[in-house]
Amino acid sequence: MTTRQRLFKDDIGGVKIESPFTLAALSGYSDVGMRVVCRSLGASLTRHEVVLDKFINEQGSGPKSGLWMDPSDRPVACQLMGRDPVEMGQAAARMAGFGYDIVDINFGCPVKKVLGRCRGGFLLSDPQTAVAMVKEVTQAVRVPVTVKMRRGLDDTPLSRDRFWEILSAAVDLGIAGVVIHGRTVQQRYEGPAIWDAIGEVKRRFAHLNVMGSGDLYSAEDCLRMIESTGCDGVTIARGAIENPWVFRDCLALWHGQPKPAPPTLAEQADLFSMQYQLAIAQYGLERATRQMRKFGIKRAGLHPDPARVHDAFISLSSPDDWKRIQDELYGEDASFASGRT
Ligand SMILES: Cc1cc2nc3c(=O)[nH]c(=O)nc-3n(C[C@H](O)[C@H](O)[C@H](O)COP(=O)(O)O)c2cc1C
Repeated sequence: MTTRQRLFKDDIGGVKIESPFTLAALSGYSDVGMRVVCRSLGASLTRHEVVLDKFINEQGSGPKSGLWMDPSDRPVACQLMGRDPVEMGQAAARMAGFGYDIVDINFGCPVKKVLGRCRGGFLLSDPQTAVAMVKEVTQAVRVPVTVKMRRGLDDTPLSRDRFWEILSAAVDLGIAGVVIHGRTVQQRYEGPAIWDAIGEVKRRFAHLNVMGSGDLYSAEDCLRMIESTGCDGVTIARGAIENPWVFRDCLALWHGQPKPAPPTLAEQADLFSMQYQLAIAQYGLERATRQMRKFGIKRAGLHPDPARVHDAFISLSSPDDWKRIQDELYGEDASFASGRT
């Protein structure tokens, strides 16, 4: 067992995880298909994309709700966003009832409309409501509750004070873990994530499961974050959309083995096929094809002819197009001057 493995905290409030490498909550992406493929490559915990408390309280579950779960995808966290603590508590109770292993609260979303409605990242500027929300949610469920925070609303000292005020109160209320995205809300997705913010949280709350987020595009990045900040795990976001094999690579390095070769075209085709089938089961053929188009575009960089693959997925509009791309660009007869097939 390596030192890295020995120091690993395999527990989030009683939910066991097998490694520090987890899939981030990703709006529009971390659906059941994406979660299952990442799990098959080694993700130890996956997260459903953020959902509004109102949506859960008013509409519930079902195939159209996007709340589909798969028995192979455990443990799995859900993530809720709202503005009213009581409504958040009600939604959390319903989510735990659907079988989610962890309920996560979103205090990070930087989308303008969300901020305008006093949700997500806005709550970092309103400690009173944020703390009341954590209180309602922790009281409403028996499963572990975690919080996703950016390192502040912006870089002002006031924002910093509020960050610590919210996190300290949330810890006192019994949250089992926190995910820190090393950017401010104001930064949105621009500029580098400041990993020191993650390390500072871990130093202040040594007993808490602290996971880091931001700029994790390779297995090397993930291990570097764990080593440099002392965090318990990482949540891989854009890096996993572009390359789900990042989980396999992380596990290899973590076990002291060499990094595996990049995925072959056949491996990529198999993964696309698995994910497409799951998407069809969830959304039906047409919507599943649209959903997979996004993934195809983002994963073009794994192909030896990325520009051609990118353009092919951009113009994809039907299941026939999907099949043609798979046959011509990923099939047995596909041959390229460079790259492994
Ligand atoms: C397309 C997209 C959707 C996201 N959706 C969510 C979400 O639903 N909930 C959440 O907490 N964070 C969400 N995030 C933020 C990521 O989980 C992550 O914290 C952020 O992308 C930083 O990591 P990265 O720089 O490695 O991508 C999203 C990010 C992206 C790019």
